[in-house]
Amino acid sequence: DVEKHRYREQIKQLLKQENAVLVAHYYTDPEIQALAEATGGCVSDSLEMARFGKEHPATTLIVAGVKFMGETAKILSPEKTVLMPTLEATCSLDVGCPVDDFSAFCDAHPDYTVVVYANTSAAVKARADWVVTSSIALEVVEHLDSLGEKIIWGPDRHLGGYIQKQTGADMLLWQGECVVHDEFKANALRQLKIQYPDAAILVHPESPASVVEMADAVGSTSQLISASQTLPNPQFIVATDKGIFYKMQQAVPGKQLIEAPTGGQGATCRSCAHCPWMAMNGLRAIADALTTTQPHNHEVFVEEALRQQALLPLTRMLNFAA
Ligand code: 13P
Ligand code: SF4
Repeated sequence: DVEKHRYREQIKQLLKQENAVLVAHYYTDPEIQALAEATGGCVSDSLEMARFGKEHPATTLIVAGVKFMGETAKILSPEKTVLMPTLEATCSLDVGCPVDDFSAFCDAHPDYTVVVYANTSAAVKARADWVVTSSIALEVVEHLDSLGEKIIWGPDRHLGGYIQKQTGADMLLWQGECVVHDEFKANALRQLKIQYPDAAILVHPESPASVVEMADAVGSTSQLISASQTLPNPQFIVATDKGIFYKMQQAVPGKQLIEAPTGGQGATCRSCAHCPWMAMNGLRAIADALTTTQPHNHEVFVEEALRQQALLPLTRMLNFAA
């Protein structure tokens, strides 16, 4: 519509004017992903967002996603201005892992290597030996296990449990969860699979074990998109945030994509397969971030001593992935 068109044109202009680039996650709304693509930005998973932001020559990054993604960008690129459409977009994994409690958990097990998911605050990252995203978590834990290390894993218990099962590593799990993926239900998925017997099931490992067990492919958002291009099935039942359908459908235009069922309707469904915080990233909020006279609503800051500490485990991840 007219208003959206106006915002899009304004943002394009501002990105040029401010030497800024838009970095968006696959879970943001399609109009945000399309704008990132059209303006030379990136649409990707958490790992690639971090890498892209660090390597891009722009002096300002607009990170459309959730707070930990903006913080990661700032930790990796302190010389850049990092803006977010809103600083209120958080993540249930981040919220459910306060640094004081998590530190106490780590202190109680000093002989364990601390591996945290990227979906955490800068302070939790600073307490960790390793940061991982879902696309590389399995390989990092395999590596640490082969060195005989015991692992504290936080905060996603489903992803941690999946990795533990796959690697057999000695792991202590923090009991956090993602409000989106935790809602996928195995029983309803079984029923859906009866309706679509030829469909392959693609599952993000933040989902419960009973759902992961039914998967034909398990992986990060970018790995699930790759799987859709590799598997021969005519349909895919997809258990992750529905924002991914935009890029996945582009990748496999001839295939039918079906949402995996979530638990309930209305009040009983906390998220219904779309992250409420990712949904806060609108065109208007991006335009506001680029024009604001109140940068404290949009600009990401990480205290320098904390930043340097959090940089170590993040750099370890990027070097391992390279
Ligand atoms: P990936 O894109 O790294 O798979 O992460 C998913 C996620 O939870 C982002 O919120
Ligand atoms: Fe966090 Fe889940 Fe939202 Fe990702 S989808 S930001 S893991 S709550």
